[in-house]
This record gives sequence, structure tokens and C-alpha cells, in this order.
Amino acid sequence: MESIWQKTAELPTFPTLEKDIKTDVLIIGGGLAGILTAYKLQEKGINCIVVEKDRICGKVTGSSTAKITSQHGFCYSKIFKSNGFESAKVYLHANEQAVREYEKLCKNIDCDFEKKNNFVYELQNMQLIDDELKALWKMGFDAEFQDKLPLPIKPIGAIKFKNQAQFNVLKFISNIAKDLKIYEKTFVKKLDGNSAITEYNKIAFKKAIIATHFPIINNHGLFFMKMYQHRSYVIALENAQQVDGMYVDQADSGLSFRNYENLLLLGGGSHKTGKQGGNWQELRDFKNLNYPESTEVACWATQDCKTLDHIPYIGPYYKGAKNLFVATGFNKWGMTNSMVSAMILTDLITEKENPFAKAFDPSRSFLKPQLLVNGFESIKNLLTPTPKRCPHLGCALKWNKAEHSWDCPCHGSRFTENGKLLENPANGDLK
Ligand code: FES
Repeated sequence: MESIWQKTAELPTFPTLEKDIKTDVLIIGGGLAGILTAYKLQEKGINCIVVEKDRICGKVTGSSTAKITSQHGFCYSKIFKSNGFESAKVYLHANEQAVREYEKLCKNIDCDFEKKNNFVYELQNMQLIDDELKALWKMGFDAEFQDKLPLPIKPIGAIKFKNQAQFNVLKFISNIAKDLKIYEKTFVKKLDGNSAITEYNKIAFKKAIIATHFPIINNHGLFFMKMYQHRSYVIALENAQQVDGMYVDQADSGLSFRNYENLLLLGGGSHKTGKQGGNWQELRDFKNLNYPESTEVACWATQDCKTLDHIPYIGPYYKGAKNLFVATGFNKWGMTNSMVSAMILTDLITEKENPFAKAFDPSRSFLKPQLLVNGFESIKNLLTPTPKRCPHLGCALKWNKAEHSWDCPCHGSRFTENGKLLENPANGDLK
């Protein structure tokens, strides 16, 4: 199933690694975060290579809805409550700077970049809107309340962020990536000291960044305790509606809307990976009810890592790590958080202070209520007796009827019907 970006953009191809090599910085994972970091490091004259196990941006980046916004649901009141005012403010500034970075870069790139307002709506609870607005105003941000939206749903209200943007992410990548040193179809199986071991070769590095969506190294960082994954779905509709903006429900299970040219991209049907959810059916029911004249021209699904406190993990892989870094846990907001990753990691690699690094530090306190939920889920699935086990840490796999895959409810690894790896953190096929 190809996304609208995969249908409309042509990505450059890169060779497969065929001999042992050396580099100053190795980036493992050729998604948006890895590519943007490589782009920024190259601008600074740093010798850096990216290795990708399949094709660049073939998974989460290519399946996103490509909305560039610092408004990530009602995250600011939540971060304020869980991590304090300073963290919320840093998160806002970092993501706003990311929006402006895209604006600058996209001036010279043909990627259908358009400035748009972004709206996050709530269907029932006015208190949630009040809390979010209060948090934003306390930080001095110019957010506005909006009581009506040009959509077939009737929310109780919405919050508007002006000057956000949307684009075609793969057209953007095809320009950004073309002069980088990248190896595709090069699968790093493990790290051995300062070497990455691929299926056939070895890459010696001084510093490495793990940007593999869910980190693949288990014996450091405790990411398997600090994250879980969510799936969500999109359909592209012809002859539906021009909505002039980007819209999303603040609830994880809600809908999202944006246009791409003459199409309406309708998102939703989300659920925790390995659980039941609305899938495409929920979106098709909504289309039939609200846009009966429209035609579905594409459908796709994506997968996102969720952290314990709504902030990604970007920085040293574990406390005190000097040459191993990570970028993960973008909580469904990969466009700006990938840019934030590139900004922070470029500074850390070049040993420059970064004003956002502390708030995103992967070693910050993880004593949050979600930790207990994650732990309970893992124990339950580890103890479930079924012959299909996940090669990551051994949880029971669940059959996903909508997508014909075996999905792991613990940390979100997925496999085809025949056991081929689709999504990490598992680092190999089913036996
Ligand atoms: Fe961790 Fe399956 S993804 S046990």
C-alpha cells in the first residue's frame, strides 16, 4: 500500500555497502531524523554516513501526513503537568524553531510547501481546552480559541496555531538526501564497541546515532520500558472537501484532516500496536457518511513510538554516553521532532551546547504513571501462552486482521504472515 507521497515523489537510490569502511559519524536509520541530521552534519563539514536496512524514508516518514507544526495535540498542558513549565517552554521553542527551519529550507526546494494554520479540536471537554490555552498563554504563545471549524464534525472548540505548514515530505527528502553518503539495503545487526556489524561487513565509527524509529540496542537505555507503539491509518479522497488548514482531534483515537492538492487526507482509526482499533474501516464509514460522492485513491498506515511524558528521547543513548546517541519517541509528530533531533544531535556531536538538550535528554526521570501501564502490558503478554513469540523480548504476538500481520503488543514489532520483519525493535525475522 503506497502513500500519496510514495506515489508522487521519486527518491534517489543509493548503493549497498560491499566492503568494510570507516567514518567519523555513523547514522543508523535512514528516516527523516537520520537524513536531516546527516544533512546538518555535512553542512558543518563532518564526515558522516547513513545506513538504512531497506530504502530511505520507506516506513514512518513515507507514511506520515507530513504536517509541520509545533501543535502536538494538547501536549503543552500535559508536559507542564508532568515535567514542569520550563520543559513545556523548551518543547514549544524547539518545535517552533523546527517549523521556521523547514520554512527556510523549503524556499529553494520544490516540495509543495504551503503555510497553513493548524487546529487541534476537542469534542466534549471544555476544561481540556482551557488548560491548554492557559499553558500556552503562560508561555507567551499567541494561540487562539476557535469555536467553529469547516469540517463535518462539531467540536466543542479548537485551538489555532498560525503560520504552520504542510508539504510533500518525500519530494523534500529527494532533494535533501541526494548529496549525502548513504548506503541502502544495509542492515546493521549489532554494535561491537566502535564498530557496527552489518550482515556482511563492518563499519568503524567514532560516534554513532541510532535513528531506527524504535532503538535497536536493548542492553542500554531501557527504551523497551519507556516506549510503546501506536498504529494509525490514512485514506486519500478525491472529490471530498478543501479544508484550508490542518486539523486533528486532541484525543489519540480521533480524526485528522488536511489537503494535498485536490485530495483530502483523512487520518484516524488509531490503536496501540497489537490491539484492536478502528483501522481503515472507521475512516471509510466516515467517508461514506460525510463525503458519499468522494472516491478513495490511496490508503496507508503508519506506526509511531510513544514516550512516557510526551517528549521524545533525543541525546546520549544512556547516561554518560559520549559516542552513542539516539533520536526516537516522536509521539506521532515526526516532522518537527526530526528537525529538533537534527538540531540537538548536530550540536552534541560537534560538542557545542544546545539550549534544548536537557529537556529531551533520554536519561531524564522516567517515573511516570505510563511506566506502570507499559510494565503491566509486557508482563501480561510475556505470560500469554501462544506459539508465536516475538524475537525482541519474547512477548506473545497478535494477529492483525486488517493488515494481515503478526503484531507485538509489548513494543510494537510487526511481521508479515510469513514471518518477515516489518517494524522494529525486533532485529530479525520470526524463526
Ligand atoms: Fe518487544 Fe515484541 S517488540 S517483545
